[in-house]
Amino acid sequence: MTPINIIYISIEGNTRAFLKLLTKYAQQQHALNPENPLIKAKEISDQTIPAKEKQPFFVFVPTYLTGGNGIDSGFTEIMTNALGEYIADGNNAPKCIGVVGSGNRNFNEQYCLTARKYAKQFAAPFLADYELRGTNQDAERIYDILKKRWSAVNA
Ligand SMILES: Cc1cc2nc3c(=O)[nH]c(=O)nc-3n(C[C@H](O)[C@H](O)[C@H](O)COP(=O)(O)O)c2cc1C
Repeated sequence: MTPINIIYISIEGNTRAFLKLLTKYAQQQHALNPENPLIKAKEISDQTIPAKEKQPFFVFVPTYLTGGNGIDSGFTEIMTNALGEYIADGNNAPKCIGVVGSGNRNFNEQYCLTARKYAKQFAAPFLADYELRGTNQDAERIYDILKKRWSAVNA
């Protein structure tokens, strides 16, 4: 099985830390059984030069919003826009096969809204969410979800 491609952005380091945890968990699973795919993660930032993605990929996006209440008034994405622009560029969007969101439940109705927005915008399923840096349990749960979707797409 080819490595699972993930594209992500991280402003304060939480998503980066979770991707490290997930990558390590994938390595352990791969060592137990080589059928279990490894993870190849690519970080996007404001400095990233647009590129054409050749393989399917998952997107991991934290939530940074301003304005609105998540229910009946609009909100604006801030900080993470470079990721959305990278996906929208060229022919990348159709290769997006799922979105994983992160955030903080203190934001109530706005919890993980950017990931939900991306899922709609790029016509990809919203696969999972986790809070802040995530836990070992989150890594196990999300690895299983990605693995299933990855093998379905690559079958
Ligand atoms: C200015 C600011 C706005 C945020 N807005 C939201 C929000 O609307 N919804 C949410 O679920 N989390 C929100 N968060 C929490 C972040 O999404 C969360 O801390 C995330 O783990 C940050 O990921 P990163 O460290 O990889 O950038 C906000 C955090 C900050 C600092």
